[in-house]
Amino acid sequence: MWDKKWVIGNWKMNGRLQNNNALMHRFRIMPTADRVVIGLAAPTVYLLQLHNAMQIVLNNRILTCAQDVSRFPNNGAYTGEVSADMMADIGVDIVLIGHSERSLYFGEKNEIQRQKMVNVLNVGLTPLLCVGESLEEREAGREQEVIAHQLSILEGLDTKNIAVAYEPVWAIGTGKVATTGQIADMHAFIHKQILSLCGNDVNIRILYGGSVNAGNAADIFAVPYVDGALVGGASLSYDSFTAIIDAAQES
Ligand code: PGA
Repeated sequence: MWDKKWVIGNWKMNGRLQNNNALMHRFRIMPTADRVVIGLAAPTVYLLQLHNAMQIVLNNRILTCAQDVSRFPNNGAYTGEVSADMMADIGVDIVLIGHSERSLYFGEKNEIQRQKMVNVLNVGLTPLLCVGESLEEREAGREQEVIAHQLSILEGLDTKNIAVAYEPVWAIGTGKVATTGQIADMHAFIHKQILSLCGNDVNIRILYGGSVNAGNAADIFAVPYVDGALVGGASLSYDSFTAIIDAAQES
């Protein structure tokens, strides 16, 4: 897993039982992609459906990913929350943490993200930490400082496996993709930061996210230190998502 490209789809608040099922059945004909770890992050309410479909229809060729998790562990009086333990219970593999839409609409910052990371690791799941700067921060030349601050929550975690998605906020859902130069600079920076925070002996995956599609995926995968993609809009269609998987397989 830690030497392959990752292509993780993030459905965000999209999907319905029937459509999800139809999509899962289409994935049965997907060509083999043995050099790619494929995952889909569905809304929490559909995770069990997805996981069952992965097992029964797809022989676990696609990992079940969650878009978020409670900052509270185990069980308790936290109305509306779903714990990492519950996600492990139903067969989730990877949990996104700190997506910029979580900080934008729900005010999540480092402290909450750190609690979530710890909870996810404690139940043996893989956290995928999302980081990214706003347009304002990039225009002010502060992008590395911002990302370094976001990455600081990785320090001292009890794991040798670190997965991060770099998603410039201004490139998410906007059709604007960072240039390959911008991606190269930031991914090299993130790689260096992870080594200094977590030690030289960690496994690292750094995914790029933000308007990745069938047309630009191959160029993005060719950039040094790009170990995959976190794909929003283009993961909702079988054709575009599998084209991105093909590009990862060929890269
Ligand atoms: P997008 O979303 O591919 O639709 O830009 C990416 C993400 O937010 O993970």
